[in-house]
Amino acid sequence: MPIVGIDYEKCNGCRLCIQECRFYFLDEAKNKVLFEDLDNMCSLCGHCIAVCPQDAIIYEDFGDEVFTFEGIEKLDSIVPYDNLYKFLRAHRSIRHYKKKEVPKDTLKKVIDIMQYAPTGSNLRYEKYVIVSDREKLKSLSDMVIDTLLNTLGMRAQYEKSFEAQKRDYEIPLFFDAPHVIFVSSMLDMQLADHNIGIIITYGRLAAQSLGLGTCWNGYINIASQYNKKIMKLAGVRGKRMGAFIIGYPNITFKRAPPRSRKPVKGLDIDQ
Ligand SMILES: Cc1cc2nc3c(=O)[nH]c(=O)nc-3n(C[C@H](O)[C@H](O)[C@H](O)COP(=O)(O)O)c2cc1C
Repeated sequence: MPIVGIDYEKCNGCRLCIQECRFYFLDEAKNKVLFEDLDNMCSLCGHCIAVCPQDAIIYEDFGDEVFTFEGIEKLDSIVPYDNLYKFLRAHRSIRHYKKKEVPKDTLKKVIDIMQYAPTGSNLRYEKYVIVSDREKLKSLSDMVIDTLLNTLGMRAQYEKSFEAQKRDYEIPLFFDAPHVIFVSSMLDMQLADHNIGIIITYGRLAAQSLGLGTCWNGYINIASQYNKKIMKLAGVRGKRMGAFIIGYPNITFKRAPPRSRKPVKGLDIDQ
């Protein structure tokens, strides 16, 4: 059990842990806050560690370290809305890449942020695979396109766009990006797809902050549901999967395009 207890030398009895988590309670007789998780139901969300002003929660074997910084109590001072608005509004799917590979320590920075994405119940059943081998990327691209056109009968829908991509790129499905990052989940439920989607979004935004470009690849996801060889070739294990390409962008955008605005019930102001 990673939460071991409370350091009473440090605890000032403020009870914020009790307010934050049901496994903490006040032992009135001893006038002490206690932690008790008899059924091992603690999800390891770490809110008790995060909230304690005295850093009095004792834990072990989280497989990671806590982290704090100036401004943590006022995150809008770190990224104000106007900056985030620009960053997100101008975030684009990139389909033109430089040949240059992304250094491993830069890819690691992207993966590091992905590992801090929230997951339902804080279950962490995901696996990560980065494929950078060009031969393998080419084989994957061929296999996915073949599966979509032949197995799934999507020829009429996709043939023309794949033909165009084949003219422009050596590895058409991945727009010649040097790497594909796969995220898979051992959970076989819709929640896993949400988790994967959020994790990929964290990764794509992290990549943008490092000067990299990315594009989600939904085709490989669809095709892999029908052709099990695709995940095998990629070396990806799991019940659900998502993937995005990553590399140095060879395109710059001058403006953020408009998007159709959808109606919002419950907001009685003009949007
Ligand atoms: C779940 C999902 C799957 C996608 N799959 C692909 C894909 O297989 N190939 C591709 O070129 N773009 C793919 N995209 C990118 C979308 O086409 C793109 O987000 C959309 O056209 C808007 O452009 P923007 O991302 O630059 O704003 C995907 C996006 C999402 C969210």
